[in-house]
Amino acid sequence: MTASLDATVAAVHSRMGTRAPKVAIVLGSGLGGLADRLTDAVRIPYAEIPGFHIPTVQGHSGELVVGTLAGQAVVVQSGRFHLYEGHAADVTALPARLFGELGVTTLVVTNAAGGVRASFGPGTLMLITDHLNLTGRNPLAGPVVAGELRFPDMSAAYDPALRALALDVAREQGTELQQGVYAALLGPSYETPAEIRMLRTLGADAVGMSTVPEVIVASARGMRCLGISTVTNAAAGVSEAKLSHAEVMATAGQVGQRLGDLIEGIVARI
Ligand code: HPA
Repeated sequence: MTASLDATVAAVHSRMGTRAPKVAIVLGSGLGGLADRLTDAVRIPYAEIPGFHIPTVQGHSGELVVGTLAGQAVVVQSGRFHLYEGHAADVTALPARLFGELGVTTLVVTNAAGGVRASFGPGTLMLITDHLNLTGRNPLAGPVVAGELRFPDMSAAYDPALRALALDVAREQGTELQQGVYAALLGPSYETPAEIRMLRTLGADAVGMSTVPEVIVASARGMRCLGISTVTNAAAGVSEAKLSHAEVMATAGQVGQRLGDLIEGIVARI
């Protein structure tokens, strides 16, 4: 562990009490409502966590919430660090490293994404089966961090058993859950229609600007990952509509309850 990760872990540990989360849930843009479902919760503002930054993006608050969801000890990350905010890749992945050090074994990541596949309109929930890292960055670059592999296998980064569980819970809840490949770009500009055609050719079904750094670090630490995208808009050129962060937030807000129910149902059976 590096000295700075040490300080991050110590600060969170001292606030957690006896809570020992096994599951971490990362909330995407506008999906903050899930944190309110936790019972016995302790809220830790990012300002009190060394190495954590105050989020600059509307729709991302800045706190960790440690508590109980569906009978399981969990930690919820409300507010992410994005590459497009100018953060280095290791900053974007610091929460995942913290979770690993806290003993978390399952990382659930959510995000808002543009629908690249034409049938994935606003409001679609997509289980991430795999990703394309097109950010040009990797949080593992540099010295190997203790507890992490130098060359992690990414062939099942999104755990097949967790995916099967998610599909099962969705079926039980009557929630439509599509499946597809998430492409991560650096951002922050949305893509051009030509870029979306390129992404479709590359095999992407949805596009966004997050998630991949965390999943790479989690894989290097042997944590299991589950990823769910909320398609908040048709990607550029798929429809006539102009893209805006306001639309992304509005759609994410509308889907929040359904996604929250799905995640709660999954966590109950992890
Ligand atoms: N592109 C990239 N990131 C996004 C989008 C998009 O269309 N929608 C939400 N996040």
